[in-house]
Amino acid sequence: MLGAVARRNEAASRDQNQTDARLNLVDRALKRFQFQQDALIEVLHTAQEAFGFLDEDLLIYVARQLKLPLSWVFGVATFYHFFSLKPQGEHNCIVCMGTACYVKRAAEIVALLQSEYGIEPGQTTDDGAFSLATARCLGSCGLAPVLVVDGEVLGRETPESTLAKLKQILASSQRPVPDAGSGLRLQEATA
Ligand code: FES
Repeated sequence: MLGAVARRNEAASRDQNQTDARLNLVDRALKRFQFQQDALIEVLHTAQEAFGFLDEDLLIYVARQLKLPLSWVFGVATFYHFFSLKPQGEHNCIVCMGTACYVKRAAEIVALLQSEYGIEPGQTTDDGAFSLATARCLGSCGLAPVLVVDGEVLGRETPESTLAKLKQILASSQRPVPDAGSGLRLQEATA
């Protein structure tokens, strides 16, 4: 019994240390930009990289540190598609649905991924392995259709080549790929 309590305390303290270390990164960014309010986007980027997503406490913290209204910080965090207010999957794919990409089958890519993984854009598979999102023009129209997979920009993909790549990535992470129609964890739409 005592052993279980000690293990729980140890795990809680480990979580706390990780949170502190990640918060240090945010603090460093705040200091680097001398707490200037117009550095909000850069600070939010750092916060998201450190924590994986921007939860409410983190947005409140940033708002207080920059002395900005929380509504302003929320507005910025929800306006830009690259910020997420909910946890992302272990792997993620953002499909550009801007005009140039749309006419080059971007919607077909999204439809195929939706049916393969049983999630809509803005959602994560139940096992947390994969998130699907769409975005407005990503600024690389010459490469249409454009995707961002785990942070890497891919161009001139087809629905089939996209699915093949994702299957490979998910298989290599050694997690079971869920069946279409499995339970869903809703995630904020970011596009
Ligand atoms: S429309 Fe997709 S990159 Fe511009």
